[in-house]
Amino acid sequence: MGGPDFNKLPDPSDPVTVGGRYSDEQLYALALYVYSLKPPPNPNQFDKIAAHGKQVFESQGCPACHTPPLYTSNKLTPAEGFKVPADHLAKYDILPMSVGTDPGLTLSTKRGTGYYKVPSLKGIWYRSMFGHSSVCATLEDWFDPNRVKDDYLPTGYKPYDAKTYAVKGHPFRLNLSDEDRNALITFLRTL
Ligand code: HEC
Repeated sequence: MGGPDFNKLPDPSDPVTVGGRYSDEQLYALALYVYSLKPPPNPNQFDKIAAHGKQVFESQGCPACHTPPLYTSNKLTPAEGFKVPADHLAKYDILPMSVGTDPGLTLSTKRGTGYYKVPSLKGIWYRSMFGHSSVCATLEDWFDPNRVKDDYLPTGYKPYDAKTYAVKGHPFRLNLSDEDRNALITFLRTL
């Protein structure tokens, strides 16, 4: 008895779940509720190491895509192998380059669009499983230069049956010194 059961999953026999649609009013109310949610307070201090990391972030071209204050440009980036249709250029905000991550999910699935979107780095301190397919469990793994090698074993999602799997793409600054990489990650965790 009492409050709502937060473990309850949508009922698969519910007509709305199987292809119906909630009313515009209901969905608008849901959107307002989602917008009203506040992130937890960030426990990480902006210290000297984070200040150094901010310099690394700014000097390494990250803000071109992860643009403050949202830490995303909100742009789309075409997956490798996707030819952008001419009319999309007028309709969408599209980066002229791919970041080279695995195109499988966006090119070979029913809901794939051919694009990935630049994710925001806000609140990255309380998230894990980075990359669109959740291949890297931690930021340390995302910036590990070994992740692009064929004998790499991802710390997050691994393709079925794969013994090893190279996490290709997003090659930005995998070549940092340990000190700069740690500082960069310390800074990211303050966002
Ligand atoms: C050309 C645009 C571009 C640049 C430059 C860029 N990124 Fe990204 N970043 C992306 C895209 C697109 C993704 C999503 C990749 C994916 O889903 O596999 C991403 C993902 C990430 C992620 C994982 C976020 C998540 O929620 O999964 C982090 C962390 C990140 N970038 C940090 C950085 C840092 C730090 C730099 C600078 C060294 C940088 N990026 C430079 C476009 C860019």
